[in-house]
Amino acid sequence: MNYNFDEVIDRNGTLSYKWDARDINFPENPNALPFWIADMDFPCPEPIVRAVQKRAAHPIYGYSKVSDDARALIAAWEKKRNGWDVDPGWVDFTNGVVPALSAMVAAFTEPGDGVIIQSPVYYPFRESVENNGRTVVNNKLLFDGEKWNINFEELEELAEKPENKLLILCHPLNPVSRVLSVEELQKIADICLKNHVILAVDEIHSDLIFRHCRFYSMAALSREVEQICVVATAPSKTFNIAGLQMSAIIIANEELRKKFQKEMEKRVLYIANLFGAAAFEAAYADPECEEYLEQLIDYLWENYLFLDAYLKENMPKIKCQKPDATYLLWLDCRELGLGNEELQKFCLEEAGIAFDVGEWFGGDGAGFMRINIGCPRSILKQGLELLKAAYDRRNF
Ligand SMILES: Cc1ncc(COP(=O)(O)O)c(C=O)c1O
Repeated sequence: MNYNFDEVIDRNGTLSYKWDARDINFPENPNALPFWIADMDFPCPEPIVRAVQKRAAHPIYGYSKVSDDARALIAAWEKKRNGWDVDPGWVDFTNGVVPALSAMVAAFTEPGDGVIIQSPVYYPFRESVENNGRTVVNNKLLFDGEKWNINFEELEELAEKPENKLLILCHPLNPVSRVLSVEELQKIADICLKNHVILAVDEIHSDLIFRHCRFYSMAALSREVEQICVVATAPSKTFNIAGLQMSAIIIANEELRKKFQKEMEKRVLYIANLFGAAAFEAAYADPECEEYLEQLIDYLWENYLFLDAYLKENMPKIKCQKPDATYLLWLDCRELGLGNEELQKFCLEEAGIAFDVGEWFGGDGAGFMRINIGCPRSILKQGLELLKAAYDRRNF
């Protein structure tokens, strides 16, 4: 089936966080056109809609579990797409990756221990460390003018400190849209292996990889590396079903898996959202969903090309970094010469656009904005025209 990602579907009034919670998140301009948060303005694949409708037709919505089929399905998906041999018995389900990351911090570290993150990074990473009473240890990414890189030297120094027990790696990297090479992954793994640092790898964006890149799952590097990895993945970004809150946590190492499961029990993380469970199975079982994914990747790439060309022609002081993955792109606005607050004001109040602000992601994110291009091209164009009007008024 051919999906029409150009179709504009009104999400106002659907309790969408992106559209209907702008008054809370952007009170200075609740009508700003939303290009923030990480869901897309596209319908999900039809097999998922049918699976949810089928389950909804049964009128008892009681406590639910996830079927054993779901374990085998995600294992098969990992094998097919990432070349990782997963035993279905390694898979647990949680209602979201973020709650799982928090549980990992609690399960694998003690109060006061250090947890390494690499900013700019998805901001709940920092929160999950701080909210558990652990110390954020920042191994800041380095920007070489084109792409953001891991600071391996510093990572080594930090990993050598015995109090730093866990590294949370975001791969692909959000918000800087990078996919790491096998060599880079191996270097990280070697540092962690040598220093007994556990690797929590958030691979939630790993299906949305552009054609010039190849994604390798950290845990697929070797059986040795697999033993220190705790991998989080989900169909939520891939198929745009974040509201159904279903993710899979894959842990090959039995001792680590038991620790994580104990923490899940403490947090009552094991009860599934029944619609999420139905959607999860359909997402990985029906080949039409994979067809959707391939079409989506191409549409997102075209959106990036459109955005990049528009910026180059109309707003050359705003630069878009070439993305490797995801619909979340990283805009370098530093040449505008605005301070952080002023940049935010310019985008939100003068242009009328709601972006995720670079500074929120920590590290050297100031002066950047994250734009979500998971929307029909006409909406993207509308947003860019708003931005250009404000840009021209300022005479940048
Ligand atoms: C890197 C990353 N991890 C996790 C999440 C959210 O995961 P969940 O909705 O499953 O909690 C996001 C959403 O933007 C993300 O970008």
